Amino acid sequence: MSGVVEPRVQVLLDPDWASGSLVDDVRRGLGGRPRRLPPKWLYDDVGAGLFDEITRLPEYYPTEAERAILAAHAAEVAEACDASTVVELGSGTSDKTRTLLDAFRDPGRSHGPVRRFVPVDVSDATLRQAATMLSERYPGMAVEAVVGDFTLHLAHLPRGDRRMVAFLGSTIGNFYLEERHAFLGALADSLEPGEWLLLGTDLVKPLDRLVAAYDDSAGVTERFIRNCLTVVNRELGADFDPGAFSYVPFWDPRMERVDMRLRAEEPQVVTVPGAEIVVELGTGEEICVEISTKFRPEGIAAELAEAGFAVERTWTDADDDFALTLARRT
Ligand code: SAH
Ligand code: TRP
Repeated sequence: MSGVVEPRVQVLLDPDWASGSLVDDVRRGLGGRPRRLPPKWLYDDVGAGLFDEITRLPEYYPTEAERAILAAHAAEVAEACDASTVVELGSGTSDKTRTLLDAFRDPGRSHGPVRRFVPVDVSDATLRQAATMLSERYPGMAVEAVVGDFTLHLAHLPRGDRRMVAFLGSTIGNFYLEERHAFLGALADSLEPGEWLLLGTDLVKPLDRLVAAYDDSAGVTERFIRNCLTVVNRELGADFDPGAFSYVPFWDPRMERVDMRLRAEEPQVVTVPGAEIVVELGTGEEICVEISTKFRPEGIAAELAEAGFAVERTWTDADDDFALTLARRT
C-alpha cells in the first residue's frame, strides 16, 4: 500500500458550460460597448499552457516575487492561521502552493497539519494534473478538487473544518472594480466569522517594469491574449481572423491597471453563429480582453474591511513588488 489517496474531483460546471456561458458572455460583451470578453475564456488547454510560459518569462516578475514571499514566510502564515482546510481559488498548476502546503503540513505546526486541500479552477485538465501531483506529494492529506467558476460557485465550496481561502497570483487584479467588490463581498458571505483569506496582490510600481511584464519580447503574452479569439472561433463557430488584430497593452494611470486589448487593423464583419450575432468592427476598434490592476497596501486593507475582512498580517518581497495579505472574516 502506498498510502496515496486518489484526489476527488467535483465538477460544478455544466458539461456545456464552455458553450452555454460563453454564449451569454459573447452576446453581452461583444454586442455592447466597450467591447469585452471575460478573462476566464483565456484558459482553455492552449491558454493554460501559455499562461504557464508567462510565469517563466524574464519580464514577468509577479510569480517569482510571490514565490519569494512564500518561501520566506509560509511558516508564519501557517502559524498565524488555525485553518485545517486550505481552499485555493484559480489554483492552476498549484505550483507555488506547495511551499504553503509544506508549511501547513509541518509536524511542528502548533495547530496540527492541514487535513484537506481544495483547489478550484475552470481549467479541468490543469486542475486534475495538479490534484494528482498534490495527492502523491502529501499522502494523508485529502485533495478535493473542484472544477468550478469562482464568480459563481463560492457558496458550494466544502465546509466543515475551519478554512483558509488562498487567492494567489494577483488574480484578484483581473476583475474590474465593480466585479472585485462583488467578488470580495460574495467571498465574505461564503465564509464563517473567524475563517481566513490569504490574498496575493501585485503592487503599483514604476511604469516601465509594469508594462514590460505584459508586453514581453518573446510575444507570449500577446499570444495568450489573442487566444481568446481562437476559443470563440472553436466553441461558437465564429470567423475571427486573429491576425487582423494587433495587441495593445497600456497602463491606465487613473485606474492603476494594465489594460490589454486587441485592436482591429482593418474593418471586419465577424459572424458568431453560436451566439447568433454579427459583430462589425471599424479600423482601430478595440476589444478589452484583460486588465491587471495594481494595488497599494492601504487600498487593500480598506477594500477588505469594506467586504468584512480584517487584515492580520502583510508580507512583501525585498523589492516591495508584491504583497501577501492574511485577513480574517470578522
Ligand atoms: N494561482 C496561479 C494561477 C493564476 S492564473 C498562480 O498564482 O500562478 C489564473 C487561474 O485562475 C487560471 O488557472 C485560470 O484557469 C483560473 N480562473 C480564471 N478565471 C476563473 C474563474 N472564473 N473561476 C475559476 N478559475 C478561474
Ligand atoms: N493575475 C496575473 C496578473 O495579472 C496573471 C494574469 C492573468 C496575466 N491574466 C494575465 C498575466 C494576462 C499576463 C496576461 O499578472
